[in-house]
Amino acid sequence: MKKIEKITELRQIISQVKKEGKTIGLVPTMGFLHNGHLELLKHARKDNEIVVMSIFVNPLQFGPNEDFEAYPRNMEKDLLLAEQEGADFVFAPDVSEMYQGEPSVTIKVTKRVDVLCGKSRPGHFDGVATVLTKLFNLVQPEKVYFGMKDAQQVAVVRGLVDDFQFPIEIVPVQTVRENDGLAKSSRNVYLSERERQEAPVLHKALLKGKALIEQGERDLHTIKKTVEETITAGTNAEIDYLEIYQYPELTEPKNWSGEIIIAAAVKFTKARLIDNITLEL
Ligand code: PAF
Repeated sequence: MKKIEKITELRQIISQVKKEGKTIGLVPTMGFLHNGHLELLKHARKDNEIVVMSIFVNPLQFGPNEDFEAYPRNMEKDLLLAEQEGADFVFAPDVSEMYQGEPSVTIKVTKRVDVLCGKSRPGHFDGVATVLTKLFNLVQPEKVYFGMKDAQQVAVVRGLVDDFQFPIEIVPVQTVRENDGLAKSSRNVYLSERERQEAPVLHKALLKGKALIEQGERDLHTIKKTVEETITAGTNAEIDYLEIYQYPELTEPKNWSGEIIIAAAVKFTKARLIDNITLEL
């Protein structure tokens, strides 16, 4: 496996790979890899001849009061893990390599952003879309891998790929869970012992909501009430949001057909956990 820090070197390598007619899978990350990222790598390894993982903590997607500087980083460990999972290249530029001064063009995401987590993070998805556009142009992948744990990000990226007609397939990878159903997340370590025991209730509650819809329930209020009551019966954590939307549009379900998502965020003392479940009707 080779680490690449410079865009010129990346371009040379990609141009050689393209000449050889090999397919490229891209796994974009901000590093500090966990099992969720490794699952993305596994899928990419299976589907493509060449696998590129990017590790770049993207300042554009952090708000002024967010933790860009404090965001956890561990390049040495990440490189080892990426190599173990079979990545061919890790593209890890520094900020000045990716952004030379003030940008003259930025991307503004106009749909799917004023709901769920995007509601409290104005501009976040503009930063995500901008960095991904650059990565798509540089790496020229046929397939790009994203975890469904951040279903809103996947929805926004689908919009980006469709609107800009990138010749790229977005591959959503199912959330990796602990045995008791809790979605794996770097934030789980911030849960107290008691909260860790309670946290799987989030997934259980989403499953209940899904079952209700599958049984034919169509009243949003009734479905949300059941999910909320299940969460509050199992934990003192505060529900930040609980929404049911058409997916990937993230609008109210109209005809109850196609893909539906139930998504929630719950605040524990030191950790805010998000989770979701999707179903096809
Ligand atoms: O999900 C992430 O880690 C980031 O939002 C991404 C897709 C790598 C863009 O910086």
